[in-house]
Amino acid sequence: MMSCQAWPEPVVRVQSLAESGLSSIPSRYIRPHSQRPSNTTSLAPHKPSQADYDHDHGHNHDHDHDHINIPVVDFEHLFSEDYILREEVFRRVDEACQEWGFFQVVNHGVSHELMKSARELWREFFNQPLEVKEEYANSPTTYEGYGSRLGVHKGATLDWSDYFFLHYMPPSLRNQAKWPTFPPSLRKVIAEYSEGVVKLGGRVLNVMSTNLGLKEDFLLNAFGGESELGACLRVNFYPKCPQPDLTLGLSPHSDPGGMTILLPDDFVSGLQVRKGDEWITVKPVPNAFIINIGDQIQVLSNAIYKSVEHRVIVNSNQDRVSLAMFYNPRSDLLIEPAKELVTKEKPALYSPMTYDEYRLYIRLNGPCGKAQVESLASQT
Ligand code: OGA
Ligand code: NI
Repeated sequence: MMSCQAWPEPVVRVQSLAESGLSSIPSRYIRPHSQRPSNTTSLAPHKPSQADYDHDHGHNHDHDHDHINIPVVDFEHLFSEDYILREEVFRRVDEACQEWGFFQVVNHGVSHELMKSARELWREFFNQPLEVKEEYANSPTTYEGYGSRLGVHKGATLDWSDYFFLHYMPPSLRNQAKWPTFPPSLRKVIAEYSEGVVKLGGRVLNVMSTNLGLKEDFLLNAFGGESELGACLRVNFYPKCPQPDLTLGLSPHSDPGGMTILLPDDFVSGLQVRKGDEWITVKPVPNAFIINIGDQIQVLSNAIYKSVEHRVIVNSNQDRVSLAMFYNPRSDLLIEPAKELVTKEKPALYSPMTYDEYRLYIRLNGPCGKAQVESLASQT
């Protein structure tokens, strides 16, 4: 197994770059024309028409999609005695999983106060002096700690963001000594927040399992069960960028794990989800979580549910903070399509693989759209 002890070149903190007040971004962050935000709002080849030159040459062509948003599901009636109301929640989750691979959830049971304080405390962490944060500098061996890149290829194009990555589950990987000591209440809030979000994740997995026609605890068990599943938190910090049209905060990728529960910034949007040939900008609903399917659920469901590509754009006015909780299989379990979903007509599309093995790809190559999960599907 290939492993990497260190970054291939000195790491530059994007926040420090941004705060140095530069007016143009270094070439390392500049993407080729075809991958820039405004040129890829529509992924279909763009045929210029006279109207483009008359009205909006050089601008985004997403005005037709301003009204589109990912589905919002209300969990209020998830445990209702009323069968009809409960069924409606399940149906909406299923529809969102099939059509978008993404949805927002409200009335999810996690305290709004806790969500707000988690986000605010992390903002304070990133706003400390660089030397303090450098004490938590990470390496590509485990990625735990303060980081600024994903992937270890020398000379790769870099994303306009920094992050902090930590393990919450399984308990054997939870090491509070690696969590920030400042602000003083951060560790306690991380633990409370993670507990609430992981609990929510368990409920969502039950809904998805049932919708797939499996026993309600199928996915949770496939992940190793409540006490052994993997859960890690990646806090993303997207600094203001003087040339947001030339770069991305996070390159297009699907999440390699099972499912992601994202707390977006309360004021600044930036997440874009791929829908067919378009990038749709998510408009966060106040106090909602954004949930999406990762590659491992695509494998377990034999591609009935698919992970969906997403990316993050940046802007020149405001920093953006998001908290992504990755809900993953315990890393040494073999993940393969559920036997119940494999038939003569629909044979298994993927061979068994552990998550340890699976995530090496993104850890070495960085975000690459859906290249990995697509390359693994058997040609049938
Ligand atoms: C991620 C991710 C989106 C965001 O961390 O994998 O997709 O809005 N984050 O920060
Ligand atoms: Ni993601």
